[in-house]
Amino acid sequence: MDRKRENFGSRLAVIMAMAGSAIGLGNIWRFPYMAGQYGGAAFIIVYVICSVFLALPIFLSESIIGRATQKSTFGAFRQLAPGTRWSSLGLLTVITPVIILSYYSVVGGWSIEYLIKSISDGFHSGSITDAASEFSQFSSSTGGPVLCHTVFLMGCAIVILGGVKKGIEKFSNITMPVLFMLMLMIMIYSIFLPGAGEGISYMLKPDFSKLTPTAVAAAMGQAFFSLSLGVGTILTYSSYVQKKEDIFVSGLGTAGFDLLFALIAGFAIMPAVFAAGLEPGAGPGLIFETLPYIFAQMSDVSPVISSIIAVIFFISITVAALSSAISMFEVGVAYLVEEHRVSRRKATLAIFSFAWILGIACSLSFGILGEFRISGMTIFSFCDTLTSNFLMTFGGLLFTVFVGWKMDSAIVRREFTNNGTLKFNSRIYPAVRFLVRYVAPIVIVTVFVTNLFL
Ligand code: PHE
Repeated sequence: MDRKRENFGSRLAVIMAMAGSAIGLGNIWRFPYMAGQYGGAAFIIVYVICSVFLALPIFLSESIIGRATQKSTFGAFRQLAPGTRWSSLGLLTVITPVIILSYYSVVGGWSIEYLIKSISDGFHSGSITDAASEFSQFSSSTGGPVLCHTVFLMGCAIVILGGVKKGIEKFSNITMPVLFMLMLMIMIYSIFLPGAGEGISYMLKPDFSKLTPTAVAAAMGQAFFSLSLGVGTILTYSSYVQKKEDIFVSGLGTAGFDLLFALIAGFAIMPAVFAAGLEPGAGPGLIFETLPYIFAQMSDVSPVISSIIAVIFFISITVAALSSAISMFEVGVAYLVEEHRVSRRKATLAIFSFAWILGIACSLSFGILGEFRISGMTIFSFCDTLTSNFLMTFGGLLFTVFVGWKMDSAIVRREFTNNGTLKFNSRIYPAVRFLVRYVAPIVIVTVFVTNLFL
């Protein structure tokens, strides 16, 4: 009766696929502008602490649930806690990634548009304000952004249709190393620009005065978002991990690559921002307003190099966004296939349709639907705020509480240590358990409540 479940082929494939999920707009778009807004190195220090003591335990919790049950979110909770309300958490974590997918795909679509722009006629904005208004003109229009969002989502669907091994694994095995090389090239180019030194020291010298409680909450939220936590993505991917693999090593590998990639993106972007004489705290417009202006400036000096760098940059961001979006897509598809026994093709179509329609609403909320507000927010900001500020943190909290307090501790230990055969994991197990049971939940609740009052 059970269809044979697919697995990732090797340890490297697991890390590549998980890194594919983790490395995305969060690293190239969000991290640099947040580091820019919240004091450079000061923010990075808090971010690293959050990654190790909060994000990693949640990552491991999701891995333990997924690999122990070899099921997608909903089925996993039903198996481990039958007849309880925990399966509603399973359902929540099916819905959250599809909501994220909807607005993420809109931004993915913008990067496709900017890729096309950089290939065709390049960037010629006169001033930074021109670049900003060019972007707002594009994002608030109707046809173009919706078309790009559609193309982006179709790209995800094609990979998803290929399945776990021939789709997801193959895609990330090819794109991740390429992405790494491309971003590294841009970073090297950027740090050698005249005037880049100030940007480098901004990223290295902590400015603790900017480290407000909001900045700390932002660092935590960013650690969640960047490692794709709290929404069942890591759980679902872990359900495809073979029993012989070491989930601690894949967790550490993924978190390590993710951090390294965020730093490379930061060091690729900040020095260029300073070299162009701009402010580091430009916020979300950094990628689509500040960078095109920088590319335009560079093209006055050398048009060829400027277009090559621009093309490489927008290819990187599009590919990184694709591999993350694919992982959000897979959560819903795995759920429909396993729980509702539909074919992968039908499941893909269902998730596509949902994300496509909600994504169109998100896209139009920059233009003709701009007046439509939910709790005072546009549809796009509402989806973003609801998921990244609430549902992801809430999901992460529940995963750690489940693994720390509800799940049979014998299963937890068995999954983490591969039945006691992994000596190192057996030794660190008590520390990991402490982080999962106490540290992660307490810190999440504290930051969450503080944030609510701010
Ligand atoms: N981690 C991805 C990024 O950094 C975003 C993501 C969130 C992916 C949730 C999957 C699930 O862009």
